[in-house]
Amino acid sequence: MMKIKKSDLLCIAAKPAQYPGTDTMEIAFAGRSNVGKSSLINLLLGRKNLARVSGSPGKTRTINFYTINDDQFRVVDLPGYGYAKVSKSLSAEWGDMIETYLKQRENLAIVVQLVDSRHEPSALDVQMYEWLKAFGMDGLVVATKADKISGNQWAKNKKAIRSKLGMAPEDILIPVSALKKTGTGELLDVIGQIVEGWHAETEGGDQE
Ligand code: GTP
Ligand code: MG
Repeated sequence: MMKIKKSDLLCIAAKPAQYPGTDTMEIAFAGRSNVGKSSLINLLLGRKNLARVSGSPGKTRTINFYTINDDQFRVVDLPGYGYAKVSKSLSAEWGDMIETYLKQRENLAIVVQLVDSRHEPSALDVQMYEWLKAFGMDGLVVATKADKISGNQWAKNKKAIRSKLGMAPEDILIPVSALKKTGTGELLDVIGQIVEGWHAETEGGDQE
């Protein structure tokens, strides 16, 4: 079981020159603005206020890198996409920021895609997911705000989310609630496996 003992803000970046070094693997969190990325990161890290959360969408406007367990791995909070009230030019800027990071980051192990458990994924959610899959990444989706729906509703919604995103049977979908603090055990297990796998591979290929 993955244990997160220590977490700190490492770096805030808007462009690649500001990114930290690539010696440590990264797990990024992507999703539309206000879906709950920063809240989920705080919950996973067991920190109340490390990543800034807000009632008004568009809170995270930079790429924020968090270092876990003295840089065993990093968690990366990406700006939210698809918020209508953000100006066109700003949202294009954020889009570029996200795309630049995802496209060229060699130490990016996986992207956790967040969708709202209550709603059918948006066209942008579908586009992002298809893009990640096309990039060769494993499908890992978290459905946020699970406290806002009943178990019956979730049983229906999970099918709709899988089908709309075009998730393969082996792709993982985990409902979480940052409010009720549920769902993180399963997510931490998956993250633990990814971190272990990455370290096994790097150490195996790094013979001196
Ligand atoms: P941006 O930084 O704008 O992209 O947003 P974000 O995806 O980081 O979302 P954030 O974590 O800031 O949360 C947005 C709002 O949703 C806040 O008001 C949170 O309190 C609320 N929220 C997040 N997760 C949950 C949840 O699991 N349950 C409920 N009920 N509310 C949540
Ligand atoms: Mg945020």
